[in-house]
Amino acid sequence: MDEQGLIRPGGAGWRVQRGEGFTVHLDTPGDAHLAFAAAVARGLEVRPRRLEPRFIYDEAGSELYEAITEQPEYYPTRTEGAILAACAGELAERIGPTTLVELGSGSSTKTRHLIDAWRARGALTYVPIDVSATAIAAAAVDLRGRYPGLRIEGVASTFQRGLPLVGRIHPKTLLFLGSTLGNLEPDEIAAFFRQISEVLAEGDAFVLGIDLVKDPAVLEAAYADAAGVTERFILNVFARMNRELGAGLDVDAFCVDSFYDVERQRVEMWARARRRQRLRVAPLGRGYTLAVGERILVEISRKFTIEHIEQEASRFELWVDDVFSDPDGYFAVLLLRGGPRRAGWSPTAGSGAPSPSRPEVPPVGAWRDVPAGIAWLGEPATPRQVAGVRLGATPVTCAEYRGFVDDGGYDRDELWSEEGLRFIQEHQIVAPLGWERRGGRWWVHGVPLDHLRPVTGITFHEAAAFAGWACARLPTEAEWEKAASWDPEHGRRRSWPWGELPPDPRRVNAGGGLAGPVAVGSYPHSVSFYGLHQALGDVWEWVQGEEGPVLRGGSWQTALPELTSMLRRSASGVHRAPTVGLRLAHDLEEAP
Ligand code: AVJ
Repeated sequence: MDEQGLIRPGGAGWRVQRGEGFTVHLDTPGDAHLAFAAAVARGLEVRPRRLEPRFIYDEAGSELYEAITEQPEYYPTRTEGAILAACAGELAERIGPTTLVELGSGSSTKTRHLIDAWRARGALTYVPIDVSATAIAAAAVDLRGRYPGLRIEGVASTFQRGLPLVGRIHPKTLLFLGSTLGNLEPDEIAAFFRQISEVLAEGDAFVLGIDLVKDPAVLEAAYADAAGVTERFILNVFARMNRELGAGLDVDAFCVDSFYDVERQRVEMWARARRRQRLRVAPLGRGYTLAVGERILVEISRKFTIEHIEQEASRFELWVDDVFSDPDGYFAVLLLRGGPRRAGWSPTAGSGAPSPSRPEVPPVGAWRDVPAGIAWLGEPATPRQVAGVRLGATPVTCAEYRGFVDDGGYDRDELWSEEGLRFIQEHQIVAPLGWERRGGRWWVHGVPLDHLRPVTGITFHEAAAFAGWACARLPTEAEWEKAASWDPEHGRRRSWPWGELPPDPRRVNAGGGLAGPVAVGSYPHSVSFYGLHQALGDVWEWVQGEEGPVLRGGSWQTALPELTSMLRRSASGVHRAPTVGLRLAHDLEEAP
């Protein structure tokens, strides 16, 4: 570690602030004000109207949150503090010397349990990352008083901007406490784990605090405290809009409804206008009218199960090494790692926490049976007798394909056709397009491999070799088309797997809007009669045509108007593209 410090932000937009014995790197986006205005306007223009939770946390909001943590009904902070106090020594022992990097550090109060444990074992550097520079400075002054010589180098930014700056630090332990993860939407959670995976090197650790699913009555009390602090906290977003955007709202004319949605496993905090109000977003010169009783979703707080976190994290090659919990099972602190899983892993019983199940891959691999029978297929449509077949419910995922690669699939000649073998040898192909192994892990086009995404970048030969390895085969074109489009109940072919409603972004991933395939199972309402997921869009699928390799189903890039169940393209068996994957098939009689 040199005198210059651990962190050297590259590029413009960063300033350094030096305090008594600490440094803070400040992200100074020139248009912070406009960004706030634009995000508010965007949220007010969708239905239901909603605001991003992070906007609650200006100085006043952060203070109100601290007050929430002291309310008797609000159990998370207290419970997590007790778990950390109990497990800090064990964490420090297992992780060893490290730099503590905390995301959303706030007042750093609970972190002191961890700092104590590491300090007892040697010197320590602490890197708090928080949107509030004042919170970092206040925490740093406090910590320097308690721990003489503690090295502190903070980053005042969002964690999305701050995380890339700490990638170079090694060994490091990332901390994300307080179940702040619960503020994120599902796609934001996936993006978050991807970013963590990107900066986590082998030997690094990630300590994550999550609030667990529990009795709704306990949850609803925690988010509607009797003293009304949560209400003032939620309404602070309007006070802030008055201060920064000239919103001109009467904050007292709102009330807050909090409730737990059991199905979505989240507390929702809605502000409700008790009378009609005008709202201005002055920097953009826009205005909005809120009707009497109209609601705005201001914050969500997701609750998790350990299994759910394991599954999300495993998508990006992060795995749960240990779980610490409280006797009531209200809250959990997880120790996660990146890189190859240690052999002979066994969960040392934490504080009575349930032992996590550790699926090697997410539970994909479901099958759909298509019984033998007539279907009208082809163009022009002709009745065809198709034998019974069992097809993969989804395209083959990266996790499944990776099993083949790691099992030496590319070196096992018996799995390949003569032509396929010649092709991969001549072009020295050892994995799909864009795959690269670094530090014992797979990266795809420079980002961590996502276990749940359909595999892409494979030729017909690779698809066929994979299928052989999996004791399956590729579908014939007729099997694929019947499974994707035939409706035996009405005896007719559907224009799209789900029926006659034209494709749009809620039904299918096509048109290039998402810049790549998405997780299998993302469109549960667009399945075909026989239950195929993502038959259209996401990835073209290799099938065995009567005259050779054929691609069916279109991809994430296919223009929406082109996309129908009939879409097909014949292709050379050596075509290798980031839009092409596969789905498996079995004869029905000898299906698994
Ligand atoms: C800071 C996101 C963890 O969800 O419990 C508390 C925020 N909002 N009461 C939470 C919050 C209302 C808190 N987090």
